[in-house]
Amino acid sequence: MKSGINSMFSKIYLKYDLMNHLMSFNFDKDWREDAANEVIIEKDKFNVLDVASGTGDLAIAINKAAQAKHKKVYIYAYDFNADMLDMARSKFRQEGMVNVKIEIGTAFKIAHKSNSVDVLTSAFALRSFANVKGDKRGLQKFISESYRVLRPGGKVVLLDMAMPDKEYQRSFFKIYSYVMLAMGSFVDRDTYAWLVRTIKSFDKKKLVKDMKSAGFKNIRYRSLKSGIAYLVTADKP
Ligand SMILES: C[S@@+](CC[C@H](N)C(=O)[O-])C[C@H]1O[C@@H](n2cnc3c(N)ncnc32)[C@H](O)[C@@H]1O
Repeated sequence: MKSGINSMFSKIYLKYDLMNHLMSFNFDKDWREDAANEVIIEKDKFNVLDVASGTGDLAIAINKAAQAKHKKVYIYAYDFNADMLDMARSKFRQEGMVNVKIEIGTAFKIAHKSNSVDVLTSAFALRSFANVKGDKRGLQKFISESYRVLRPGGKVVLLDMAMPDKEYQRSFFKIYSYVMLAMGSFVDRDTYAWLVRTIKSFDKKKLVKDMKSAGFKNIRYRSLKSGIAYLVTADKP
């Protein structure tokens, strides 16, 4: 049986991309581009496991960034929601991507071997991991699974949204969240109310603390255009 969060994405998958672009004034494209540029490591040929890949936009951005740098990349688009992945499949086909494999699975027990992944990415899903009903350790499970599957020297690149650090941006978001709720109610009111609630409650400091406890080193945090999105990268020693 599907979990609550999994079912939620099955309600919105058809409109998911459109709503992302509308609600973020298209900034989501720049944010994914920033994340994708972080993915490009020194190796000429490497693999990327994109956990919670959804409709595949980050995987596509990574593929483009790799092409621009003349690197060969193989991407695993991994998610527990088959509807979101169906959308990804048709977009990968349109892009002519043959270097991608779609995989269904949970972020809490990643179906990949230990020490096998060069770069692990995840965009806009940390709040899902942190808000599983009846499981307060979801985010920690994802972080320790990420650490396990990465090879020594591997890199994690995480992108998500949380309350901005600057006060004027926080005030703007508090007001703008009502606009998001109004827009979201055309698709699914409860899901978009959840989205806003989880942005407001996400604890970025705890994320960094959990990554340190899992063993990650060289943890770098940066806030992206508009202040609401942020990027965290780290290395597995
Ligand atoms: C907000 S979407 C983000 C999709 C995509 N990464 C992007 O950049 O648009 C969150 C995705 O996380 C997936 N997800 C949430 N919890 C998950 C879990 N525990 N295991 C695997 N996938 C999960 C959902 O199915 C959904 O596709």
